[in-house]
Amino acid sequence: MGAFLKILILSISVAYIAVKWTGPSFDPASLKGAKVLVTGASSGIGEQMAYHYARFGAQIVITARREKVLQQVTEKCLSLGAQKALFIPADMSSESEPDKVIDFAVKKLGGLDYLVLNHIGVTRFAMWNGDVDHVRWLMKPNFFSYIQMAWRALPTLEQSKGSLVIVSSIAGKMSNPFAAPYTATKAALNGFFGSLTHELAMKKSNVSVSLCTLGFIDTESALNAVKGIITAPAYPASEASLNIIITGATRQPELFYPWFTYFMNLIKDWSPSLTNHLIRNSVNYNP
Ligand SMILES: *[C@@H]1O[C@H](CO)[C@@H](O)[C@H](O)[C@H]1NC(C)=O
Repeated sequence: MGAFLKILILSISVAYIAVKWTGPSFDPASLKGAKVLVTGASSGIGEQMAYHYARFGAQIVITARREKVLQQVTEKCLSLGAQKALFIPADMSSESEPDKVIDFAVKKLGGLDYLVLNHIGVTRFAMWNGDVDHVRWLMKPNFFSYIQMAWRALPTLEQSKGSLVIVSSIAGKMSNPFAAPYTATKAALNGFFGSLTHELAMKKSNVSVSLCTLGFIDTESALNAVKGIITAPAYPASEASLNIIITGATRQPELFYPWFTYFMNLIKDWSPSLTNHLIRNSVNYNP
């Protein structure tokens, strides 16, 4: 794919986003002093979200497994303008640690305005080999910890009229080869938080839920995982992160990034055979 085409697609997506944002307008000042917890923040999209929140002057707690890296990200957040930046190392496949992270953030920040759930467990990008135990395990970080943390934080978010931001994937809307376990966990997230969104609305809850559907993003872990298999262009993590933050801040129920994931999702049920053809041709596979 030529650089020109890449730039063209990028500019169209920027234009699309610009038009879209003329709807509910984003006020950067609304994030000044906002109390934010971001998970999976040691690298990739989570790290970039931490930096954006920092630039907006938020108070941030970040979490991931690696303490050393969290410390470095925290320091950078402070230098970028975060009012507060704290970290807590945690393993999201544990049954107890997700709750501890919520309690830590609520205690240290004196409440919570944004719970941004973004972490994922490590999984291979390969055809499924029958390893049920791996799927059982991956559900813990990618799904069970999400619903556990959302429920734990809900009373605090009710008080602050806060927002729950779920980072999901186009894989949660349509299936892709080489990622069956991951796809299953993201579909579970979409299903669960879709139901929760209804129930909160019916209860006239103060809490907004934003479900973010991301395409192929240029994080180190994603690029490494699909190396040699997917050659499509990856979209910048920094822009994806900013989109997620704005979606949460403007209390939008959904985000599609890059923009064409919205159309992929629309087309999949109208034309399954075209969609399947495109999906299977987007990966290199020579048995
Ligand atoms: C919503 O927020 C108000 C405070 O502004 C609070 O009194 C009310 O209890 C909250 N609703 C719920 C369901 O907690």
